[in-house]
Amino acid sequence: MKKKRKIRVGIIFGGKSAEHEVSLQSAKNIMEAINKEKYEVIPIGIDKDGRWLLNNSTELLLNADNPKLIKLNQTMSVSLALSPGEQNRQLQSSSDEIQVRQIDVAFPVLHGPFGEDGTVQGLLKLLDVPFVGAGVLGSALGMDKEVQKRLLKAAGIPTANFLAFNENSEIDFRSVKRKLGLPLFIKPVNMGSSVGISKVADEGQFKNAIAEAFKYDRKIMAEEYIQGRELECSVLGNDKPIASVPGEIIVGDNHDFYSYEAKYIDENGALLAIPAKLSLPIIKKVQDIAIKAFKTLCLEGMARVDFFLRNKNEAIVNELNTIPGFTKISMYPKLWEASGVSYTELIDKLIMLAVERYAREKKLRTSVNLK
Ligand SMILES: Nc1ncnc2c1ncn2[C@@H]1O[C@H](COP(=O)(O)OP(=O)(O)O)[C@@H](O)[C@H]1O
Ligand SMILES: [Mg+2]
Repeated sequence: MKKKRKIRVGIIFGGKSAEHEVSLQSAKNIMEAINKEKYEVIPIGIDKDGRWLLNNSTELLLNADNPKLIKLNQTMSVSLALSPGEQNRQLQSSSDEIQVRQIDVAFPVLHGPFGEDGTVQGLLKLLDVPFVGAGVLGSALGMDKEVQKRLLKAAGIPTANFLAFNENSEIDFRSVKRKLGLPLFIKPVNMGSSVGISKVADEGQFKNAIAEAFKYDRKIMAEEYIQGRELECSVLGNDKPIASVPGEIIVGDNHDFYSYEAKYIDENGALLAIPAKLSLPIIKKVQDIAIKAFKTLCLEGMARVDFFLRNKNEAIVNELNTIPGFTKISMYPKLWEASGVSYTELIDKLIMLAVERYAREKKLRTSVNLK
């Protein structure tokens, strides 16, 4: 009997984002752990200028074992051209020397704008390639913290009160203070990694925080401060999503909140407690809300749902991430491991979910049958 050929998975990583290096780490871990009996990996790197690169050798990543020095190998690579509508030739090389292998499914491991926000997902849809994770709408909703919160609120899911502003808004400290109280949070609407986020307690800090947030986005928000523990829950699935055990981020005393420094600079900035120490009813509550939030935002495949736990039993959703960190020590895969799904199995399930969704979408008619 002829042996079935392996499924070719294009892992797309890097990207025009502050989280470029985190993405390289995630991709490296996925490439190492993926079931090689079943899948053949085609690495596709996006450099910081947004160019898509590929490389026939396995050397697309340099210094792969050093998180501080890891980077894309640009010299050995050619850029990739994408051709929507070209059956089985969707990916083409800019050079005759390097031949492109067509992929069966894509796994975008990109964080932040230009990757997690629906842009790359739209491109993959046009290319007619199944891909892991949320579609265009879900990805866009996952990226915009304000629209996300509006939908969560409309669905009755507890989330912090907020006000949104654009560059033309009159922003009056007193009125914001009256509505949200102090301290409060100021953040850009479309960012991640705590970039541009400040906690403010007075008018001077408020003004500085607004200027800082507008450096990163044209839309910003002020949010009521929620004092509580920070919990995270992993969700997996398409129509019938399931939730993992929750974990907890315990931020070090020397940080005011889970800031960029606490996340990436200070090695002792935060501890992950996996699973979080919680009573069974709270675990159930967090899982139920996580699944409801996932469905509310039209998500598919995967998401990490982040919470505050106030007064021991109020689970308040902070935000959802549609492409969470994916290194072996990242919360999303760690929570699945603690729930009985290994890292390798998780990758397999995510790819199968992508293929399943694609097959379902393919069944839809693309033209009207006139009688
Ligand atoms: N309303 C809030 N109340 C209390 N802490 C907050 C609030 N909003 C954000 N934070 C703190 O800031 C961190 C980053 O904010 P978040 O909205 O999750 O942005 P990012 O997408 O950059 O992770 C959170 O993990 C939390 O520590
Ligand atoms: Mg966050």
